[in-house]
Amino acid sequence: MKEKIRRLAREKNAIILAHNYQPKEIQDVADLCGDSLELSIKASKTSAGIIVFCGVHFMAETAAILCPEKTVLLPNPDAGCPMADMVDPVALTAKKKALGNIPVVTYVNSSAAVKAVSDICCTSANVIKVVNSINSNEILMTPDKNLAQYAAANTSKKIHLWDGYCPFHNTLTAQDVKKAKMDHPEALFIAHPECPPEVLDLADSIQSTSGMIKFAGASDHLSFILGTETGLLYPISKAYPDKKFYPASKKMYCMDMKKISLENLADSLKNMTYVITVPEEIRKKALGAVQKMINL
Ligand code: 13P
Ligand code: SF4
Repeated sequence: MKEKIRRLAREKNAIILAHNYQPKEIQDVADLCGDSLELSIKASKTSAGIIVFCGVHFMAETAAILCPEKTVLLPNPDAGCPMADMVDPVALTAKKKALGNIPVVTYVNSSAAVKAVSDICCTSANVIKVVNSINSNEILMTPDKNLAQYAAANTSKKIHLWDGYCPFHNTLTAQDVKKAKMDHPEALFIAHPECPPEVLDLADSIQSTSGMIKFAGASDHLSFILGTETGLLYPISKAYPDKKFYPASKKMYCMDMKKISLENLADSLKNMTYVITVPEEIRKKALGAVQKMINL
């Protein structure tokens, strides 16, 4: 199956991008694995005519926003992000207006229509840089309240929250982390900024998914507790087979990130399914917010 996928990708001049939470067999067959920021940048620069995005819908949509001349495929159209569904453009525009039209920073985990009514996007890897780049002392951040609180703790700006969250990162409790630390007292705790503030308070480092891989590689420590979706255990253990990695909680399992199989991926390349497009009016506006982030 893997050989068939690689052959189809070659024949069709397609690049396969996979998020760090994807099933291991998908990561193994991909051209590039990474976090949301790395994958967006790669999508914006690729010379391939077809981008097969193994991730969730908003990631493929971001590639379609950046590359209107390319065909962007999502091998399973049911792979969504529940957090991205927690905000819509009408409610966001109303809240922005009620707050006096302050700038809106939108996490890439959002629809193209929401990006289109936002001033700039951010990812977990660049949120503080993005917030500090804005020429206003007040900002509205959406949809993740935890990411927004993390940004608020690292800037002098006043941040207004949207009440969205990742249903998996948001379940991690300080008690879970304390228990994991008791079980592995020698390990450092690395957390994703989608975790609640009381969990981030216990972290030795706060990182995006690829940031966690880099941090573990650069550290003298030999073991780490990961406060993120458990899919990251695969690429991080593969990168550093001599180090030990433990999940902070096995509850952190995103079903949507596991919806793509090798069969889906082969069918996607063979039949050109499922093409992700964004209406041009929305795409142009969303591109402004995504491109500003990438330029930064
Ligand atoms: P990263 O950008 O850190 O990979 O995170 C994406 C995501 O969906 C986290 O839940
Ligand atoms: Fe969305 Fe959370 Fe899944 Fe990431 S882990 S795709 S934020 S639901």
